Amino acid sequence: MTFDVAAKTTLLRKIPHGLFICGVAEDEVVNGFTASWVTQGSFTPPLVVMGVRSDSTSHGMIQRTGHFSLNVMEVGQEEVVARFFRPQGAVGGRLAEVPYRLGALGLPLLDDCLGELECALAGHVAAGDHTVFVGEVKTAVLHREGEALTMAHTRWTYGG
Ligand SMILES: Cc1cc2nc3c(=O)[nH]c(=O)nc-3n(C[C@H](O)[C@H](O)[C@H](O)COP(=O)(O)O)c2cc1C
Repeated sequence: MTFDVAAKTTLLRKIPHGLFICGVAEDEVVNGFTASWVTQGSFTPPLVVMGVRSDSTSHGMIQRTGHFSLNVMEVGQEEVVARFFRPQGAVGGRLAEVPYRLGALGLPLLDDCLGELECALAGHVAAGDHTVFVGEVKTAVLHREGEALTMAHTRWTYGG
């Protein structure tokens, strides 16, 4: 059996990843973070799958509320996306300077993105340092057509 750590890293980074802003809300608190470990999980019902760091603020909010949104970002929006993986400022948080509204499920939806989905938690797998959340898509709004931003458009890495 061969486990070449460098090969593992190289190969896992070849998995194509999109870039999304995941929105969460709990009582009066809203939060958003950059998520790339996102894919589809089922046609019927429509399911999405997202890996979330167990020690992140949003992880607990998703667990407790059972809801999250996914905002699909466009090529050229790297600056906005980068705001959502930096540590939060003491006051206001990441959403303070990015226009958003609350959707039908009360989740933050960015005004400027290709479109957004609101999801209700359908299941989860807690293993390792991330939890894999499975969300059923409950609302979907397309703002405009465009090319979705992916990791391949950037020099960022997450994972491997
Ligand atoms: C390019 C990139 C992609 C990321 N993708 C994910 C991801 O898929 N899941 C995740 O939990 N964190 C991901 N992160 C890290 C989170 O954005 C980061 O930990 C964030 O600070 C968590 O915010 P929170 O603690 O306010 O919830 C990514 C970071 C970068 C730089």
